[in-house]
Amino acid sequence: MHESILVYRKHRYLKWALALAVVSALFYMIDSPLGQPNGGTWLGYTLGTISGGLMVWLAWFGVRKRRYGLGNVPLEDWLSAHVYLGIALALIATLHAGFQLGFNIHSALYILMMITIISGLVGLYFYISYPRLLTENRRGLSTEVMLAQIAELDRDLRQIAMTMDDATNAATLKATQDTIIGGSLMQQLRGHDEHCPTTQARLFVEGSDGGPQDAQRRQLLTRLIRKEDLLKRIRRDVQLRCLLKVWLYVHIPFSIAALAALVTHVVTVFYYW
Ligand code: HEM
Ligand code: HEM
Repeated sequence: MHESILVYRKHRYLKWALALAVVSALFYMIDSPLGQPNGGTWLGYTLGTISGGLMVWLAWFGVRKRRYGLGNVPLEDWLSAHVYLGIALALIATLHAGFQLGFNIHSALYILMMITIISGLVGLYFYISYPRLLTENRRGLSTEVMLAQIAELDRDLRQIAMTMDDATNAATLKATQDTIIGGSLMQQLRGHDEHCPTTQARLFVEGSDGGPQDAQRRQLLTRLIRKEDLLKRIRRDVQLRCLLKVWLYVHIPFSIAALAALVTHVVTVFYYW
């Protein structure tokens, strides 16, 4: 689904958005208002109404997304149109304002809208590239399978370490007991743990001399390396999912703030009319 959003229905929504943007730009070029072009001319009001309507409709996507099974239009249509019309909005709203931006409540709306649109572009990048990145990272294994493999490795590690010297045993036990997957938001976003007890145990075993127990030392090492690889992939998986969540925490609040600013803008311009 994700990659087809941009080409969905043979670029139908790209064509709609382009048509809307081109017609708006043409009107803007042929219009010759008294004074500077601005939101208060007939064209300004028209483009303002289109921009306002588009913004309310774009925000409605949040409601539509959660009403599964309702409505005749599939979510893919909504998202494809959301992306293209959202980008067109940047141009139409700029033409509506006649490129007049300053330090005022109207420009606050413009900035909030632009942040929402730019965050939308970032989200679009995530949505297109993440399914592939997640699949590549998992190499055919689900998170549950990877966790089960880690649990199995931990069992082996504990058993082998019991036959080893105290220091190796302690480092290995720590690796099986104190290794964290996930953790705080920052840890999840980092995608790795620089103090990971498994890595520390691997370094310790690598640097130690097994002596008569060299065969066991090698067994420990291969399992620690395998566990490290699985941990690396699970942490990357958590990182990718977390980034997606964090992104929504930018896109949604900014779209709500932009809507509030839109209401203020419209009330202000009509109040001072
Ligand atoms: C996403 C939607 C919108 C954005 C981003 C936006 C943004 C702006 C900006 C930046 C200005 C320039 C303010 C200035 O001259 O300093 C402006 C002016 C104006 N806007 Fe909007 N606007 C939007 C929607 C609307 C809507 C829905 C209406 C009403 C139907 C509207 C009516 C006006 C009017 C009348 C002005 C001229 C105000 C003046 O010159 O004092 N706008 N808008
Ligand atoms: C002012 C303009 C925009 C507003 C108000 C807006 C608003 C929203 C809302 C409310 C959602 C639903 C999020 C949820 O509830 O999970 C959403 C999702 C999304 N938006 Fe926007 N958006 C805007 C512009 C854009 C643009 C320009 C793009 C891309 C170029 C974009 C890309 C996305 C994506 C990829 C999603 C996620 C869809 C999903 O989770 O299935 N948005 N947007």
